[in-house]
Amino acid sequence: MKLEIRPLPAPLGATLTGWNAEEALRSEDREVILQALRQHLVLVFRGHRPPSDEAFVRFAGCFGDLVKGTEWFGDMVEFPEILPITNIVGDDEIPKGTGGSVEFAWHADYSYVERVGKESFLEAVELPEQPPQTCFCNQYVALDTLPRATVEMLRPLRAFHSISGFVDRENIDPEAESDMDAGYRAKRERDARLGIERSQIPEAIHPVILRHPDSGREVLYVSPGITRHIVGMPQDESDALLDELHAHSTRPELVYGHDWQVGDLVMFDTFGAMHRRDAWDAKQPRFMRQLSTMC
Ligand SMILES: [Fe+2]
Repeated sequence: MKLEIRPLPAPLGATLTGWNAEEALRSEDREVILQALRQHLVLVFRGHRPPSDEAFVRFAGCFGDLVKGTEWFGDMVEFPEILPITNIVGDDEIPKGTGGSVEFAWHADYSYVERVGKESFLEAVELPEQPPQTCFCNQYVALDTLPRATVEMLRPLRAFHSISGFVDRENIDPEAESDMDAGYRAKRERDARLGIERSQIPEAIHPVILRHPDSGREVLYVSPGITRHIVGMPQDESDALLDELHAHSTRPELVYGHDWQVGDLVMFDTFGAMHRRDAWDAKQPRFMRQLSTMC
């Protein structure tokens, strides 16, 4: 494998070519990838043959223990490490994955779990005519560019993370139900019919400033999509502080917006970069495969 990394003309991100999923990953190539990820946070793999599910799991597993998010989201798949992110619904009216076609606000995957997401691998298998962008922002630089007094104020604080705003809304108004909500409900009804029991989707509390377990770099670890409040702070104060931090994190100079092509595999620093996606025409299919390592 002869890996080549080229920075994108953006505040973060680089392309990576020369990768072959069928070849075992040598430790020196793993190092090259990790170093590039530390530097650029987002690596767009291009020009490779799409990996089989098995090869994809093997490759992602070289970077850490893999999350089995499908078990929480009720996706019945051969490889529980591969989360199908899609709005496609099967003939049985059950979605073939998770997420629908709705917009996702800025978030860090698996921040609501005790062992939070570390790296993620997201591959575009099928895209709508006008693919929604996925945007990434740099939470290391966000922290580095906060006033010192703000950082000291944040240091002892902890935040509560939950995806109850995304899924698992028990009392949702049927009129307002999105395809994501409907899909989640359909999967839960199927599970109930089949007598399948699943563990609850977790919730977690983490320090507002976290240290990356491998690089040791500190990051601002709160997101509009998943962080619900600062622990022990009145909700209005907490909302105001989080709004201020999110606005700081998502300034254009900290953001890269990725325009997807079929076959793109984007590896990103789940821990240090928040991401968001736009909504798209719900009638058009989009199918992504995602794997994540955990801290
Ligand atoms: Fe995500």
